[in-house]
This record gives sequence, C-alpha cells and structure tokens, in this order.
Amino acid sequence: MSNPLHIEVCQKVDSLLSVEDLSKAVLDELKNSSSFDLNETILGKDCTHDILKDHIDSISFYRNNNETIHANSNDEDIRLHVYRLHEDEPATETIHDNDNNSDELPVATHWVLPSSDFKGLWESLYYDSDLKENLLSFIETTILFADCNVDPNIISWNRVILLHGPPGTGKTSLCKALAQKLAIRFSDRYSHFALVEINSHSLFSKWFSESGKLVMKMFAEIKQLLENRDALVCILIDEVESLAHARKSSTSGTEPSDSIRVVNALLTQLDQIKRYPNVLILTTSNVTEAIDLAFVDRADIKQFIGHPSEIAIYKIYHSCIKELIKARIIEVEAVHEISHLKINGHEENSTTRHMSLKLLELSRESVGLSGRALRKIPFLAHGLYLRTKTSTLSQFLRAMHFAVTKHKEDALERHY
Ligand SMILES: Nc1ncnc2c1ncn2[C@@H]1O[C@H](COP(=O)(O)OP(=O)(O)OP(=O)(O)O)[C@@H](O)[C@H]1O
Ligand SMILES: [Mg+2]
Repeated sequence: MSNPLHIEVCQKVDSLLSVEDLSKAVLDELKNSSSFDLNETILGKDCTHDILKDHIDSISFYRNNNETIHANSNDEDIRLHVYRLHEDEPATETIHDNDNNSDELPVATHWVLPSSDFKGLWESLYYDSDLKENLLSFIETTILFADCNVDPNIISWNRVILLHGPPGTGKTSLCKALAQKLAIRFSDRYSHFALVEINSHSLFSKWFSESGKLVMKMFAEIKQLLENRDALVCILIDEVESLAHARKSSTSGTEPSDSIRVVNALLTQLDQIKRYPNVLILTTSNVTEAIDLAFVDRADIKQFIGHPSEIAIYKIYHSCIKELIKARIIEVEAVHEISHLKINGHEENSTTRHMSLKLLELSRESVGLSGRALRKIPFLAHGLYLRTKTSTLSQFLRAMHFAVTKHKEDALERHY
C-alpha cells in the first residue's frame, strides 16, 4: 500500500505568490536538504531559499503510519498542500436571557477554515496508535465515496462521528483539529471550509423564547453554505448527551414543552443536513452509557478516547519542556539539549540519557492523569515548587514530580 508523504506549506497571509511558484520553491529547497523529520515544522525564516523566507510561515511533514522518522525529497509519492490561515475572529450567535439583559449565551460559533485559532492544534494532541490518522483516513473515504457518487443505499455511511471518553482527553480539541486538517489536506478539492460549533449545552440550559427561531436561522445559513458543492462544512456538537438529557427531562414534565420542540427541531435539521454530500457531523460526549439519540446511535465511527499512556504522556511533557526552554524558563546547559532527549530513537549521550530516563519515570508516575491535567503540571510545578524564575531541567523535573504527587493526593481527597 502506498503511504504518501504529505507536505503542508503555510503561506503568509499577505503573500500573493501563486501556488505553482511556491510549490516549485519548496521542492527545490527540499532537494537541497538530505532528510527532514516527520511531524516537525520548519519555519519560513529558517529556509535557505529567499522566496520561502518572504512567502511562507512554515513547512510540516506527515506520513500516515509513522514507522520511520525521517523522510527525504526522493520520496515517490509526495502530496504538497499549500494553504493560508484565516485570521478573522469567528462569528458567534448568541441568545439573550429575557429576564436579565446582561446574560448573553453563545449558542453557535462559526469559523472559516483553516483558521489561525487552530494553528498547531493537531500536532499538540498525542495519542497511542494511529488514532488521529485513522480518523482522518476515515473522513477521506467519506469524501471519496461522495465524490464517486457511491449510492448510500447500497453502501451505507452517514457522515457522523462520535468521540467519547472521560473529561479532558482532548475530544473537543480533536474535532476542531480534524476540521482544520481537512481544510489543509483538501484545499485543492474544496474552495471553502467552515466549522460550525453548536453549543447545545447553552441552547438547552434554559428555555429561551428565541431558541426555536435561532435553530431555524442557524440551519438556513448552513444549508445555504452546503448548496455550494465547493464548500465542506463540519458541524460540531459538543456534549451531545445534553440533547438527549433535555429531551428526557422535558418528557418527564419538569421542563416546559417548548424546550422539547427545540431539541426535536435540531434533530430534524441534523437528519436533513446529513443528506448533503459535503457535510460532516462531529460529536463528543463524556457519558459512557448509550445516548438515546438515533443519529448518534447510527454514527459511522464511535471512537473511545481515553487517558494518555506512558508514551503519549512523555510526548506531552516533552512538548511542554520544549516550550519552557524556548521561553527561557528552563535553562539548558549545552549538554541538556532537549532535542536529544529520547524520542523516537534520537542519539543520546550519558547526560541526555539520564534526563530521558527521569522524564520517562515522571511519565510513568503520571499515568491516570488526563491530557488536560498533564498540561497543567508544568505550571503547578513552577508556581508551587520553584521559587526562582529560571531553573535547570533537572530541578524542573523534580518540581514536576512534586506537582504530580500533589495532583494525585488532591484527586484522592476529592473521592471522600
Ligand atoms: N492526548 C492529549 N494530548 C495532548 N494534549 C491533550 C490531550 N488530551 C487533552 N489534552 C489537552 O487538554 C485540554 C482539554 O482538551 P479538550 O477540552 O479537548 O478535552 P475534552 O475531552 O473535550 O474534555 P471535556 O470532556 O471536559 O469536554 C486541551 O488543551 C488539550 O490540549
Ligand atoms: Mg469537550
């Protein structure tokens, strides 16, 4: 099976260079460098080619199965994706609380993709196995089948994905990152990409007289977008269980029956919209029991997202430490070069091996923490256990060890 090398080139917002010229310059640059690391990003300013210095922000390299860590420009199957980030703020639809004018709840947020808001998000999420790549490849199949007019009555798929699992494991982030990734990888297939996040939680948190109208207006806009077959629209419904919950509590008579109408309107609209070949519905949930909603029940993919394993934790910590070195909060003595820490078999010397082992030990201690908790550990470490602005890597790792221990003790206390 062929395993193409994807090269993603982020063009500067104000650059007017054609995609052809830019691609040529990128390939030229790569011919001159013997090999480059997968999943690494080269900044435009570090390129040797002047055109690239002026016109691009970054180049990144990906391969679906990361069995190798290096790639080179002699690769047979290279796919180059040139894209520009949209820097505009997302548009938000809000709903007013009639009793209290100051209360405005956001019910939907609309991004044009690829957006600078999600820059680097995909790369910042670490999972075991090829979870991210598999999800991406699944969506590629969805797009391929729609493009080839495969009859959905013969081979059924329905463009719905459910990511479920405990809190703080990156489900919402992964949905957004996926939408962004599609906008980058399919830039030559579609001309517009949008992500509409429906905050069902605030839509149903309370009954508002406008809710019904708002749902209709929202979907009228989405349908209009979808009429353009050159647009790909991802709809994100976070915490989808709140829909089922709203429906249940409204049938049990504790809520006004108006609210069930809004839930039903939303579900009907979603059912209609699924028929468009250029839509994807991404949903998340952190309840484990089955969600009583037909459209989630029929999701093509129900992916469990759990807490990171030791190896994924190592990678998360590694990225945090790299950031703090960049910010000069962790001092690196020459020998402590973080890039030499053991990750995918980089060369080591005795000091870096020692640090790698320490970090590995810390990662092992941290098993059971969510991704969200892990990303806070370096902050807690500095805030609670370091009294100086800067420290050495080994001092910092020690502080992180204390922070992990404290986090676990606090978690235990919460159980009482
Ligand atoms: N596997 C992971 N790798 C790296 N970072 C992670 C991972 N999981 C979570 N995080 C970080 O934790 C934070 C929270 O993630 P996110 O809000 O997407 O989680 P969630 O699963 O949607 O949580 P909830 O169920 O509470 O809504 C993000 O900033 C993300 O960077
Ligand atoms: Mg979430």
